[in-house]
Amino acid sequence: MTTPSTHPHEARDRALRAAGIDPQRVPEHVAVIMDGNGRWAKRRGEERVFGHAHGVESVRATVEAALESGVRYLTLYAFSTENWNRPKEEVDALMDLLVKTLVQEAMELASKGVRLRAIGDVGSLPDACQAQLEEVKEGPEGEVHLDLVLALSYSAKWEMVEAIRAMMGDGLAPEDILPSTIDKYLQTADLPDPELMIRTSGEHRISNFMLWQLAYAEFHFTSVLWPDFRKENFFDAIRDFQHRERRFGGLPNAKSS
Ligand code: FPP
Repeated sequence: MTTPSTHPHEARDRALRAAGIDPQRVPEHVAVIMDGNGRWAKRRGEERVFGHAHGVESVRATVEAALESGVRYLTLYAFSTENWNRPKEEVDALMDLLVKTLVQEAMELASKGVRLRAIGDVGSLPDACQAQLEEVKEGPEGEVHLDLVLALSYSAKWEMVEAIRAMMGDGLAPEDILPSTIDKYLQTADLPDPELMIRTSGEHRISNFMLWQLAYAEFHFTSVLWPDFRKENFFDAIRDFQHRERRFGGLPNAKSS
């Protein structure tokens, strides 16, 4: 016999509370700068690509952790505009890994209610990559539990230039341009701003990532290298987030000038 549940997320909420997480205050959108793959590989005497390949397991663990904690949007910085400057072999290997992972994981992700999409200059990606992204666009048949957003050939300055060009192309007058107008012209137009940004590998930089959207986000930095990042590290970040007092520039202690 099964006991009827009074609330669809009852079991999940109980597990979260047991892990020291308040289910009511889980960030809706978490953005991650996955960093440290190269160093992780180097420490093992391997090529950088070895680190990227192991980073896929961390992506899986992070998606699981986001689903378990009730995060609704997860954005992963998988390839920056600047990453095109890396050696061709590394860029090619990263693109292959991306396509391979999309092919392998698409069904599994859809069955878990994960919808995949990309932000960035997708048109600059290899054809196979673009085709695969197109393929997975449909997403799950049933309810969507998590939007997994891959930032690919993305940089915030590129995104802003594109937005300004589009606004000018649409003939907007200066007085038409409000912060909400800019929101609508960015790649993230239909996404809420991230409330939490995680960066791994001990670097304390934003590296041209979602400069506009992270205006009020809490930042969590961890020295863990991306290929070692697991569910517990994601939960650490959420616990850290829940200990912050978010003021959005308001009182107390807001500067008056
Ligand atoms: C940064 O490490 C990581 C990247 C540039 C690529 C991230 C890609 C993955 C985790 C693999 C595939 C992703 C998906 C979504 C399937 P780095 O090379 O800059 O490391 P370093 O700072 O130690 O040199």
